Amino acid sequence: MEILLKVNNLNVEYTGKRIVQALRDVSFDVRQGEIVGIIGESGGGKTTLAYSIINLLPGNTRINGDIELKGKNILSFNEKELRSLRGREIGIIPQDPAAAFNPVFTIGYQFEEFLKSKGFFFGKEERVLFMEELLRKVHLFYPQRILKSYPHQLSGGQLQRAMIALTIAVKPSLLIADEPTSSLDVTVESQLMHMFLNLRKELGLTIIFITHNLGLIEVLCDRVVVLYRGQVKEVGDKTSVIFSPQDGYTKSLRDSFKAIEEVENGFVES
Ligand SMILES: Nc1ncnc2c1ncn2[C@@H]1O[C@H](COP(=O)(O)OP(=O)(O)OP(=O)(O)O)[C@@H](O)[C@H]1O
Ligand SMILES: [Mg+2]
Repeated sequence: MEILLKVNNLNVEYTGKRIVQALRDVSFDVRQGEIVGIIGESGGGKTTLAYSIINLLPGNTRINGDIELKGKNILSFNEKELRSLRGREIGIIPQDPAAAFNPVFTIGYQFEEFLKSKGFFFGKEERVLFMEELLRKVHLFYPQRILKSYPHQLSGGQLQRAMIALTIAVKPSLLIADEPTSSLDVTVESQLMHMFLNLRKELGLTIIFITHNLGLIEVLCDRVVVLYRGQVKEVGDKTSVIFSPQDGYTKSLRDSFKAIEEVENGFVES
């Protein structure tokens, strides 16, 4: 499979009162059509990695290394190239969907403004149909009601789906989902997993899926990057990383995952 994204010896440091080395010599690649999981504990550098890939880190960061999308180094992009990269080439679903929407405008209005900002200008009727179809794709089956709603009138799962619909509207080459299910309950989480698998099949999306849950990696991903304190501990096929982990940190992840599964399945002796 063709390589879509290549990250090579990426180092990211937050400077300020205290210097934090958030990523250290991170290297991995993502092939066309794959779902790659990034797993690691809180503070390990997952979100930093996501925003490095769209070259949108805050001003107080020092970044070096290479990030190539379709063979072009995005770290040397000019403003115009960056605008097309963010949101058009690469779509990102942020960790907190509620915060990503503006509370004073309806979802429909924000959807419309987003489409305009990405250069989609069609007539009103056509646009409404387009938005409704996208919302159905992410399993929001009453799209007219969703479009008329304000963010606070929707549940966390609905907002998350609306955000996904917005992101896939422009058919990005790469979709990055930053822990998209961490605030949702298990049923909604499992529906979303199926939705991601369907979207990949239907739209041929390539996805980077960030999580701290090995169970979700097992259901969804082809390959996994294990990130621990800013360093890549292991990269490999899902099955080999989960079932025969080489690294001590990956082993401990797998063991705690097995323990949770056993409790859920009632295998623990009391
Ligand atoms: N804007 C910032 N300024 C300074 N330090 C930061 C900033 N953002 C993140 N960090 C630090 O960088 C490290 C990596 O943070 P990051 O948010 O990338 O981790 P994460 O794996 O996404 O964690 P979580 O699972 O909690 O979302 C942490 O030590 C964090 O405190
Ligand atoms: Mg994060």
